[in-house]
Amino acid sequence: MRTSTAKKQGPAKARPDRAPLQSARKKHDEREKQGEKHLEARPDSALLQSARPALDGFPARNAGVGSHLRPQRPDRANAWKTIWKPGTMLAPVPAVMVSCGGKDGYKPNIITLAWAGTVCSEPPMISVSIRPERYSYEIISKTGEFVVNVTTAALAKATDMCGVKSGRDVDKFAMTGLTPLPSNVVSAPAIAESPVNIECRVKSTHKLGSHVLFLAEIVSVQVSEELMDKKGKLRLEHADLLAYAHGEYYVLGRRLGFFGFSVKRK
Ligand SMILES: Cc1cc2nc3c(=O)[nH]c(=O)nc-3n(C[C@H](O)[C@H](O)[C@H](O)COP(=O)(O)O)c2cc1C
Repeated sequence: MRTSTAKKQGPAKARPDRAPLQSARKKHDEREKQGEKHLEARPDSALLQSARPALDGFPARNAGVGSHLRPQRPDRANAWKTIWKPGTMLAPVPAVMVSCGGKDGYKPNIITLAWAGTVCSEPPMISVSIRPERYSYEIISKTGEFVVNVTTAALAKATDMCGVKSGRDVDKFAMTGLTPLPSNVVSAPAIAESPVNIECRVKSTHKLGSHVLFLAEIVSVQVSEELMDKKGKLRLEHADLLAYAHGEYYVLGRRLGFFGFSVKRK
């Protein structure tokens, strides 16, 4: 097991372009300087009001609002909702680039995944769901290791490319220009340009249907030093994080509050 940190190992073959991170940080600082109010600074009544007006007095006062708020079935109590067939509607989710290979004869590969998430804190665990026909499914099944690389606006194009091309046909590191970075514990390389690299080892596999779920333990994490403030706090608001919702990519926007702000004493 290798125990040295990314810093000790030194930079990978090329230093990634940091300009997008710096410009995101500048934009965020400017917005804060202009006194943009965060949610915690606003009274509860104003917040609720901004969320509610379309429903108040429904349906009489809402005849002119969007069609999703018009009664579809006036005979039902929840007349303003349309029932859809069950589907993968939870959004936004992060679109991540998962790197794998570099072991057991497999060259390094990258697959883009939207069906990924944190599933346990102690031990720290992640889940990823992959269709068996993906090349990466074969690699991860055989090697039992992968790295989840957090994506940003600057990486959006590469993220999309890694989700439409197969490693059976192309070398995705070469195709995207992404830089493979030695991982700390696993054999699969991390992606240098990603601000957070989460190294994982598969604990169990579950056939669900179209996808196979891998539950994996997080065995090491590498974080870009550029995103840490002087106190060592990770400032991901400067990273322009990428979100994915129903087939579209978005950049994460303003900070609205912090964990527990709703009950903070004034
Ligand atoms: C935004 C996005 C999200 C995706 N999410 C998943 C996913 O969660 N699971 C999956 O099996 N494939 C997913 N894909 C498709 C794979 O990334 C794609 O089939 C890829 O080409 C497979 O590469 P590979 O054959 O090298 O493993 C996604 C693609 C995109 C663009």
